[in-house]
Amino acid sequence: MKKIHIGLLGLGQIGGGLYEILHAKKALFARQLGVSLEIRRIAEKFPNRKRKVRPPKSLMTKDAFSVVRDPSIDVIVELIGGTRVARELIKEALRNGKHVVTANKALLAEYGDEIFELAHRKRRWLCFEASVGGGIPCIKALREGLIANRIDSIHAIINGTTNYILTQMTTRGTGFAAALAEAQHHGYAEADPTLDIQGIDAAHKLAILARLAFGGKVRFKDIHCEGITQISSEDIAFAKEFGYTIKLLAIAKKTKDGMEARVQPTLLPNSHILASVNGSFNAILMRGDETGDVLFYGRGAGPHPTASAIIADLVDIAKAGVAGPAEDRFLMRALGKTIPVKSIASILSRYYLRFHVIDQPRVLAGISKILGNHGISISDVIQRERSAGRAVPLILLTHDAHEKDLRAAIREIDRLPYVRSRSQVIRIEEA
Ligand code: HSE
Repeated sequence: MKKIHIGLLGLGQIGGGLYEILHAKKALFARQLGVSLEIRRIAEKFPNRKRKVRPPKSLMTKDAFSVVRDPSIDVIVELIGGTRVARELIKEALRNGKHVVTANKALLAEYGDEIFELAHRKRRWLCFEASVGGGIPCIKALREGLIANRIDSIHAIINGTTNYILTQMTTRGTGFAAALAEAQHHGYAEADPTLDIQGIDAAHKLAILARLAFGGKVRFKDIHCEGITQISSEDIAFAKEFGYTIKLLAIAKKTKDGMEARVQPTLLPNSHILASVNGSFNAILMRGDETGDVLFYGRGAGPHPTASAIIADLVDIAKAGVAGPAEDRFLMRALGKTIPVKSIASILSRYYLRFHVIDQPRVLAGISKILGNHGISISDVIQRERSAGRAVPLILLTHDAHEKDLRAAIREIDRLPYVRSRSQVIRIEEA
């Protein structure tokens, strides 16, 4: 039987999961494909680390460059992560005529242009299903299933760690730090969890999705990115009282004057389909001009779901045949003109505002006057607690307002003598 020789870079959590599945389902894949997927070499910096899988020592090396240059290897699977060595290894693999499968969203978001261009020039497959949404085949959906559509918007929960944390805070009242520790224990978090909690991991994934969906280059630094570290249990509880759930959303929308692209904690109405996506689950809601809304839901992190996506890419490469030149028109589309991203100051949104104010007369009147002066209209108010002369939370929801006006109003409000801490601002997304 024909064999496809794989060089695996990195035997961490995901690499271990991949090795396990390829080993366990080898006969099944061979039967379905008529080709055998063989891991021929594994590069790993810490070969003696305790792990679930035990590949033969003869496959292991510490020298990843020797693997990407090995003439007997057809496909490199890059799972070491990071943007420094991985970038060099992938480029060297492509220069040496290898096809590449990677889960490295940071690399593709920040250096996608040079890597896509090199893959295109060298006529090699560059596949990265595992880089967004773990086990959810969302890239394949854009590449194939939704091909008849112009994609108009993406609303996505694409970070399992933050969704797990927010879910634990919402449903169990768990504190932020304990929920993060649990997410790390389950293997959802990045090596550096600040990438998760600051929204950067989700922004990396959004950069990839947006360029594929809208067809053009997306500059990662143009994506506005806010994490969940400022979200308190108090905000979650007040949002609930208004009928909303707080989620970290990645949003990309085409508008008449450019693209909106942002990662932000968001109040979603409880009736919104993404509001019920809980735990480490991810969901990607795409709006096509022909299909309308299409929702993809599944496990967006963890070794086995991610390895599932990697195997799907390996299978695609096996089907196309490793020998022939790869002419990837989908990737070429993503190398189109840079798509301009609207500045966050110019977006229009509804807002949740939380103030800590001294409970005394004319406070609400003072705050609403400033909002009114900036053209911002209030839709709802809660001030439940009463504690004359002490600081209490005051929550307002607004109608649509321009971010620039809202920020100017908040700057003024935060200077008022009866406002006791910096005000909280969270955007609301209805549709
Ligand atoms: N840290 C990521 C997450 C892993 O929590 O979703 C998958 O990319």
